[in-house]
Amino acid sequence: MGSNYKYHILFVCLGNICRSPAAEAVFKNLLEKEGLINDIYVDSCGLSAYHRGQNADSRMIKHAEYRNYNLTSKSRPFEEEVDFDLFDMIIGMDDDNINGLKQHARNHKDIEKVYKLNDFSSRFPSLDVPDPYYGGDQGFELVFDMIEDSCNNILCKIKKTVKF
Ligand code: 4NP
Repeated sequence: MGSNYKYHILFVCLGNICRSPAAEAVFKNLLEKEGLINDIYVDSCGLSAYHRGQNADSRMIKHAEYRNYNLTSKSRPFEEEVDFDLFDMIIGMDDDNINGLKQHARNHKDIEKVYKLNDFSSRFPSLDVPDPYYGGDQGFELVFDMIEDSCNNILCKIKKTVKF
């Protein structure tokens, strides 16, 4: 899995049915546009296994379609032994995700891979990406506004540090 890739990035939320599937799709779309889809491996997962095997939430899929993104992920839980070894950057959506990931960390090297999505945002600096699950349409749109802004900046950062 991912062995020919030069870089590996993992997006993490709680259920892996709303926010991180959206981030995975937005980042893959950017990579396709930039011709880097075979160079950077992208995945998403959840800190909870509650929705294991499920497609993304139908409301998230609908809002993704408004912006021409295709959400194809199946929910899977974070696995510290595999994920901390494989991924170079592990990006949580809110402070709870960051704390959860840090609790799974086995050492300092693992902790250094953990970032919060909006730490890369120009428009929403360091804000949580709010969980849209119990809210309305606006919450799903805000998720995409935040993710699109941060993902552009994340890719710029990767391009500065990795030679493709
Ligand atoms: P996500 O949203 O973390 O963005 O996938 C959630 C979806 C479902 C639940 C929690 C968060 N839930 O507890 O069912």
